[in-house]
Amino acid sequence: MCTVLVTGGAGFIGSNIVDLLLSNGYRVAVVDNLSTGNMNNVNKNSAFYNVDITDLKLCKIFEIERPTYVIHAAAQINVEKSMQDPVLDANINIIGSINILECCRKAGVRKIIYSSTAAVYGNPLYLGIDEKHELNPISFYGMSKYLTERYMQLFSDLYGLKYTILRYSNVYGMRQNFNGEGGVIQSFIRYMFKGEKPMIFGNGNQTRDFIYVDDVARANMLALKKGDNDIFNIGTGIEVSIIDLFKSLGKIIGDCTPLYMPQKKGDITHCYFNIKKSTEILDWEPEYMLKEGLKKTIQWYKKIFI
Ligand SMILES: NC(=O)c1ccc[n+]([C@@H]2O[C@H](COP(=O)([O-])OP(=O)(O)OC[C@H]3O[C@@H](n4cnc5c(N)ncnc54)[C@H](O)[C@@H]3O)[C@@H](O)[C@H]2O)c1
Repeated sequence: MCTVLVTGGAGFIGSNIVDLLLSNGYRVAVVDNLSTGNMNNVNKNSAFYNVDITDLKLCKIFEIERPTYVIHAAAQINVEKSMQDPVLDANINIIGSINILECCRKAGVRKIIYSSTAAVYGNPLYLGIDEKHELNPISFYGMSKYLTERYMQLFSDLYGLKYTILRYSNVYGMRQNFNGEGGVIQSFIRYMFKGEKPMIFGNGNQTRDFIYVDDVARANMLALKKGDNDIFNIGTGIEVSIIDLFKSLGKIIGDCTPLYMPQKKGDITHCYFNIKKSTEILDWEPEYMLKEGLKKTIQWYKKIFI
């Protein structure tokens, strides 16, 4: 049986990837230091290692598990934190990733799949953003994710380690915690459940591309076998305004009024992906429309808040 080592497998996206892999017959080993992840997210049928990705002992785990594939989803994902402490951000996201790449090289891993982000593009020069769009990160988080992409490509050129880079738009769904990137949906849901006014920064006309976590997990599984040494946008290709998102949630949870706050500095106005390349080469397309994804997400949060 083929083993996949998933970093960040106790986190939001990583744990959903782990569940999907196990249900498809893969053996799974999880590496996570539980900094933002949670033991409740970790599938009992996986082998769990509470280890930091920057720890040089990581290679020992590779020796024990002998993974065929690595899915690298562990990261410092808080944009504001990256601006306050770029050294910490770079240490986890760049140095931690190089450590993983070194372990992959030494253990003869066949392929690594990397969770990258729309933040590598910076302010969009055009919409829908395709994979050829210039890379001009405007945060240290975007920069650390971008530089890791480059390390992955150089490791591939030098040592033949195959890779697929998946750049996600705003991911939402069950197990999302409250400190990450793209967390507007769970933030709205939390305020609505508490009977408080959710905050909208700016006029709410900003748009985003919201992708449901099951679709992201499926893209990772497909990338084990397809899209070698290539980069793919993983989003819906559909732009949704924050105010429309707010109204859609209100229709399911119950109407409420938002609290308008000043626009956040550096907030991008519009963002959505072109996903043509992913549909053609990975044979992937999103299965969840926003309404369905929101319903499933709310069902899950109900268990926590009610
Ligand atoms: N959530 C989004 O909308 C989004 C969008 C684009 C890209 N991404 C990327 O997807 C990946 C997963 O993000 P997420 O939303 O699931 O975040 P998350 O915080 O829920 O998951 C990250 C996991 O990594 C673990 N981790 C963090 N630092 C670690 C370290 N030094 N050593 C070992 N484990 C460590 C955390 O404990 C957590 O379980 C990240 O690489 C992120 O950059 C997320």
